[in-house]
Amino acid sequence: MRTSELNSQAFGPSMIREAADPNLDPIVVGVPWRRGYGHWHVSRMRDVRALMADPGTTTDDLALRVFSRFREKRSDVDSIFRLFSHISRAHRTPNDAERRDAITVTKRFMECLPALDFRSPLAALISAGETDADAMANAVQKPIVEWRAAALGIDAATGREIAEDLIDLMASLEQMAIPDYVKLEPKAAAILRNLSALNMSWPAGQTLPLLHLTSPAFLALEPMSRTGCLMLAHLADNPDIQEVLRDRADMRPAYLQEVERLLAGIRYMSRQVGPAGLDLGDTRLPPHSRVTLDLAAANRDPEVWDDPDAFRLDRPRRQTATFSFGALACTGSQTSRQFLSILLDAVLETLRLSEPLAAKEDDRTYTRCSLVRGYDTCRLRFAPL
Ligand code: HEM
Repeated sequence: MRTSELNSQAFGPSMIREAADPNLDPIVVGVPWRRGYGHWHVSRMRDVRALMADPGTTTDDLALRVFSRFREKRSDVDSIFRLFSHISRAHRTPNDAERRDAITVTKRFMECLPALDFRSPLAALISAGETDADAMANAVQKPIVEWRAAALGIDAATGREIAEDLIDLMASLEQMAIPDYVKLEPKAAAILRNLSALNMSWPAGQTLPLLHLTSPAFLALEPMSRTGCLMLAHLADNPDIQEVLRDRADMRPAYLQEVERLLAGIRYMSRQVGPAGLDLGDTRLPPHSRVTLDLAAANRDPEVWDDPDAFRLDRPRRQTATFSFGALACTGSQTSRQFLSILLDAVLETLRLSEPLAAKEDDRTYTRCSLVRGYDTCRLRFAPL
């Protein structure tokens, strides 16, 4: 499957599985519909905005409540419980200490970005001529690992290990029944141990609970790496666009705007409606409904964009749903835009991307997490200019 084929099957909403697959579920924009008992699905931009902006809506999580009850009778799931409580964000309230810490950490990432060397790993790849290589590992993850190490002042390998373990843990949690979570306890304990050993320095008097690092320093970089890799695959699949962008640096901001809209790494978010319910105009969501929000669909809403599935470089700028809205929205939108822009310049000015000469079945493998869209690995051809 190629970038252009992700989510391309034209099924109606009734065929979408209860368990989400962000890479394969068809992207359909329409009125809110019921996914299951007490569980709704919204896809229009105005519905996504209304839910994210509604002060009664929360990030509550049913699975966490069930896990809490299970844990009352167990003493061997403490590490996994601590991480799960945190990852689920069920405890979050607007402008809480965790949010303020996320902003502090995000600022550190932003400050370190201009000094990051994106070009040397690319130049090293083509030093002996054309080569086929995994774009995710070589062109995207390498600068991210260095970036995290510089921003936090930590060992790069430990940072990478924590990030990989957290992503792996999230994917496993989704696939397991709660009584089996105990099998994840050793991995969760290792993550907590590695976090404690980071030995980070903060300005005098400032403390930051280590778990407050999990979003901004580890999990949040995941959608950015997916978007970065989807962008490189898109350039390889569309050599004409790649050449235009190489010659016309002034077209790159418009291209990045479409990357943000169509190649965003997070597809689904979830929320719980408050006790008063929520009126969306043509649909009323009952109190306490669980809601899945399809951000990829909202970014293709024909009420907002003409010819919404087309990748066009002549669109007026409009706000996307990519970084969500409201009090718990992404703190890293500007940082991500800057990262992708530097990556794009570095690639276009260092090498030429194309599909590998001998395509193999497993050239591109897909994410396992039910929220994140994109590739785990993506083999491309890297050639000197
Ligand atoms: C293309 C890259 C990225 C995308 C698509 C993305 C998207 C998102 C989305 C959809 C959310 C959930 C918001 C919600 O529940 O309403 C989120 C949360 C978050 N993002 Fe990003 N993000 C990206 C990169 C980053 C980066 C680079 C950072 C920081 C360095 C960052 C920091 C955060 C944090 C801290 C949260 C949690 C906010 C909170 O719980 O208060 N993100 N992101």
